[in-house]
Amino acid sequence: MELTLENKTIVLGVTGGIASYKTVELVSQLKKLGANVYVVLSSSAASFVSALSLEVISCNRVFTKDSKHTVEESTVNPFLNNSYIDHIHLAQIADIILIAPATANCIGKLAHAISDDLIYDITLATKAPVVIAPAMNTNMWLHPGVQDNIKRLRDSYAYSVIQPSAGALACKTSGIGRLADLDSIISTVNKILTKKILSKYSKLQFNSKGKPQNLLDNNILISAGGTKEYLDPVRFISNDSSGEMGFALAQEALYRGANVILVSTVNYRKDPIKSALLDHPNLLLLEVNSSEEMLKAMEGNFNESIDAVIMAAAVSDYSPMKHLSKKIKKDNDTASTVTLELKENPDIIKHLSAQKSPIQITVGFSLESEDLIENARKKLIAKNLDMIIANGVDAINSKESEINIIYPKLDDPNKLEIIKLIKQDKSLSADHILDHLSLILKSKHEKHSHLINRQT
Ligand SMILES: Cc1cc2nc3c(=O)[nH]c(=O)nc-3n(C[C@H](O)[C@H](O)[C@H](O)COP(=O)(O)O)c2cc1C
Repeated sequence: MELTLENKTIVLGVTGGIASYKTVELVSQLKKLGANVYVVLSSSAASFVSALSLEVISCNRVFTKDSKHTVEESTVNPFLNNSYIDHIHLAQIADIILIAPATANCIGKLAHAISDDLIYDITLATKAPVVIAPAMNTNMWLHPGVQDNIKRLRDSYAYSVIQPSAGALACKTSGIGRLADLDSIISTVNKILTKKILSKYSKLQFNSKGKPQNLLDNNILISAGGTKEYLDPVRFISNDSSGEMGFALAQEALYRGANVILVSTVNYRKDPIKSALLDHPNLLLLEVNSSEEMLKAMEGNFNESIDAVIMAAAVSDYSPMKHLSKKIKKDNDTASTVTLELKENPDIIKHLSAQKSPIQITVGFSLESEDLIENARKKLIAKNLDMIIANGVDAINSKESEINIIYPKLDDPNKLEIIKLIKQDKSLSADHILDHLSLILKSKHEKHSHLINRQT
């Protein structure tokens, strides 16, 4: 299934910053995904980006404080000349309000319910989810007043805030404040709309971060990082895995109320954001190095209280036959080539999948250079997994990934659900994975409800 915004109505508010010019491309991409987009320009945005370009790209008239057409009459038609503004109608028909770029001024006004322009009227009048993508100079963004306003929008009004990124800014400085890339914006919109659909069907609770508490008290065992297979005390065979994906999954699972055991070859203690995660009371971090140690830690913690195992670690397929306790010395008298004998490592997720009960789920990752989906499908079956995440080799040691979530359809297990996502930050990928994981868990629990009382 491709990412789609078919039949979705997006009201896109554009406020007055240099990044406003990027909205022409944003509208074009939203339209390609099937969305119906109504652009609303703030009075100052109108001097940064041309309403005409946005009208042509969105195929709808652009709304401003002074526009004189209704929603019904907004399809681009040069002969239109109508006479009233329909901001309440826009507030009602929106599936989502997206404000990109959101200026410091806009953030301040929304945080204090000030309504002196059309986009603010609409945002106050709507019941649809609101997502903002701020863009501004670094000092403006870091100003405590702006940060307080952002916190208020997030915590008090449950608005989603897409963090600006770091880089060169139009004001000839460099730092945080650039409009997030369009892929992240689109993916967030898609995620919020998907969640809106999910929440229609299940009675989800949301915490103060707007995260559904759909893994509340579930126990999740996650592995992260690349294993190191030692030849001697200082040399090892490994891979480039950073552990980002495993950490992102742990973070998202904690947000959703789960208890997490994270078996990892990396600890991120020096990373200011991830090290905060390590202090979370519901996280247990177990540090390991080799595949053998990882197997022991995963197996040792896999018991009937575990609801799901996610094998995000990159485990070496092979390790040296011998692990010498002393450093191997170079022997100048021997030939210029040496032969390294390797033995196959146990397949940890396959091993755990073979022991799982009908209400436990196992999730594997498949990193492939070719035939991504087909190879992942084969692994899903061969390893008896409930879900597999297929990604290309460029996901390794990257903050971003372009994943495919694959699992047997819940209403027809002979067919596969294949969700192809765009390249995005791994925390967003993790969020999608856990959405689907919680659905699979729920479905298993419904099917096998007689087994659920096992722990009570
Ligand atoms: C050239 C120029 C560039 C600007 N860029 C930004 C910006 O990137 N972010 C921002 O918050 N404000 C920026 N401003 C300030 C806003 O345009 C100003 O606060 C305006 O009142 C915003 O109104 P609005 O939020 O209703 O669109 C800029 C102003 C000028 C003149």
